[in-house]
Amino acid sequence: MSEIFLDLKHIKKKYGSFTALSDINLQIKKGELVCLLGPSGCGKTTLLRIIAGLEKPTDGEVYINGNNVTSYPPSRRNFGIVFQSYALFPNMTVYENIAFGLKNKHLPKSEIDKKVKEILEQVNLSSQIKKYPMQLSGGQQQRIALARALVMSPDFLLLDEPLSALDAKVREKVRKEIRSLQQKLGITTIMVTHDQEEALTMADTIVVMNNACVMQQGSPTDVYDNPTSSFVADFIGSINFFKGNLSKNANITTDKQLEEKLLKKSGNLLKACRPEDIEIVEERSLNSFNVQIHNIEFHGYGYRLWLSLTEDEMSLNNEYLSFDISTEEFFKRSLSAGDIISIRFKRGKLHYFEEE
Ligand SMILES: Nc1ncnc2c1ncn2[C@@H]1O[C@H](COP(=O)(O)OP(=O)(O)OP(=O)(O)O)[C@@H](O)[C@H]1O
Ligand SMILES: [Mg+2]
Repeated sequence: MSEIFLDLKHIKKKYGSFTALSDINLQIKKGELVCLLGPSGCGKTTLLRIIAGLEKPTDGEVYINGNNVTSYPPSRRNFGIVFQSYALFPNMTVYENIAFGLKNKHLPKSEIDKKVKEILEQVNLSSQIKKYPMQLSGGQQQRIALARALVMSPDFLLLDEPLSALDAKVREKVRKEIRSLQQKLGITTIMVTHDQEEALTMADTIVVMNNACVMQQGSPTDVYDNPTSSFVADFIGSINFFKGNLSKNANITTDKQLEEKLLKKSGNLLKACRPEDIEIVEERSLNSFNVQIHNIEFHGYGYRLWLSLTEDEMSLNNEYLSFDISTEEFFKRSLSAGDIISIRFKRGKLHYFEEE
């Protein structure tokens, strides 16, 4: 078992009668990169600010390294922080921006010099040392903001949507840089994002939040493969939701026992299947059903087909069923809109949820 670095116990935050966080319990291991992921307004920033001590919880406790720091001001928590907007000092050079905190600590000039140069090397921006923030690209500015946070040798790093102001290509590059630096330094990092791809590619652990609550916590593969609620299934990746069975000939239920168990708990059972967990069958069989290709989208790595049902007894939550197919198979079968095909759900890939 790895050491617990941060322990949040029954954290609650109210603004007047509005609940921004309701009973958050969360443990974060030393050295992990944890993404707080969720839709706008779910409480991600509020939780980050409570961890930082910039905001006081209405109830509950924050433990860092086993110490109750709930009443500590931010200055006693030793973290580095980077926000969405760069927040570099515009009138200072890169060097001065990074040296700022060290100067305030009255370190000797030679030591400041050494630390600034070392950290600039780490973020691969040594050549930019004399520039002013406005002479740097957005991605470079964010890496300087990261260097400015890291140069203080914090115990942990807090990042609030640090990449969201960057365009897609730069975001991908900086994302990789942050992750490899974080792993190299082994620094515990908590990053807020509402971008599921960012969370899936960067995090050791994803904490999915919605409506002031933690919905699920787990590794990226765990939350993707085993979502425990329809919200998480839908928020991370794409998924089709449907109710009911197919015609008598095509029973799509692959796990009867599980379905019966769940049905006892609630009247309505929601089934779900990711678009990549569908396959075409050559011949209509017991667990397949016929669909019509309504629309075809090219996605670069393959095609997404939008299918309409041709049989009753099953209702989709959306108008069409999405199905991802490789380019190779798409051309091999020379598919086009209007075609009728037989498909089935891959074995063990159906999800069951109680209807919310
Ligand atoms: N100081 C405040 N006073 C009143 N309400 C607040 C305050 N700060 C945040 N809230 C409310 O708390 C809720 C959570 O806000 P928070 O900023 O944590 O959301 P978020 O998940 O970070 O959203 P986003 O992705 O848009 O940044 C929101 O409904 C917000 O309006
Ligand atoms: Mg926020």
